[in-house]
Amino acid sequence: MKETKKINRVALMCSGGDAPGMNAAVRAVVRACIYHNIAVMGVVRGYDGLIDGNFETLESRSVSNIISRGGTILKTARSERFRTKEGRKAAFDIVTAYEIDGIIAIGGNGTFTGGELFFKEFGVPFIGIPGTIDNDLYGTDYTIGFDTACNTVLDAVDKIRDTADSHDRLFFIEVMGRDAGFIALNAGIAGGVEAILLPETDTDIEELIKKLNRGAKKKKTSSMVIVAEGNNNGGAMEVARKVSEKFDYYDTKVTIIGHLQRGGSPSCHDRVLASRLGVAAVDALVQGHTNVMVGMRNDKVVQIPLHDTFTKRKDINNDLFDMAAILAV
Ligand code: F6P
Repeated sequence: MKETKKINRVALMCSGGDAPGMNAAVRAVVRACIYHNIAVMGVVRGYDGLIDGNFETLESRSVSNIISRGGTILKTARSERFRTKEGRKAAFDIVTAYEIDGIIAIGGNGTFTGGELFFKEFGVPFIGIPGTIDNDLYGTDYTIGFDTACNTVLDAVDKIRDTADSHDRLFFIEVMGRDAGFIALNAGIAGGVEAILLPETDTDIEELIKKLNRGAKKKKTSSMVIVAEGNNNGGAMEVARKVSEKFDYYDTKVTIIGHLQRGGSPSCHDRVLASRLGVAAVDALVQGHTNVMVGMRNDKVVQIPLHDTFTKRKDINNDLFDMAAILAV
């Protein structure tokens, strides 16, 4: 969708779960706005900050030395108040009072659901930047934070392999991903694990036990299984319990990586992605686009209707899933 009003002041926020590279995107938006002579109001704590008028003026030096930092200098939140019509109306009053011409929000599907509603109700131009470790947004090959999170998991998997091997143990390693198994799949392949349990694929525990048994017969002394938190069997604890009830060849241990996956200095890939998408978001607003997410497809910046990003499902690559099974013999 295209609007034609000149953009003089933009509100920039992070919303939802933080992701490494959000700061790099904040920096890119601020610097691109300066290039276009646009003032930037940093919104503190996502939509809650918009409702409360909790702003910080962001200038070039405000974003110095943040490209390498995880988390977000703007802080983030999952706002309950913005889910209500009253909350959004209060946010609109603030937007009007501060003469804000457009909103750029870095976040995931919850953020964009709110952004689309706000645009539809009040007509405030809105551009989304995909920032979530889950990589689950339709329309973009990658979201900011995914690559770093995969590398964090991989580092943990490599370390666990050392101790698993030393003690001849079976490890179940739980990674984030309630609805999407992108982290589990990628880190599982890169970590060379025995099995990968995703939210997208129902796992039969009997089949998993057969697989582990085959490995044991082939003299595998240790094994590692990655479990995405949204797998049909429950998390790693539950899977470990179900497996060890019937299969006690190995001493079994569980590691839940948890919020370690959300922190840390962003990878080179995430910093470059965040920089490109930050600049693209400002360009999109300047050119009069609204209600879209900027994303990356085949190394090209694209715009995706916001509605599609959270209503259409981004599927995992089944070829990768099949390949992981072939490699785990
Ligand atoms: O959406 C990002 C994510 O890290 C998910 O992978 C995870 O299920 C969820 O957020 C955890 O949320 P919280 O930090 O609120 O516990």
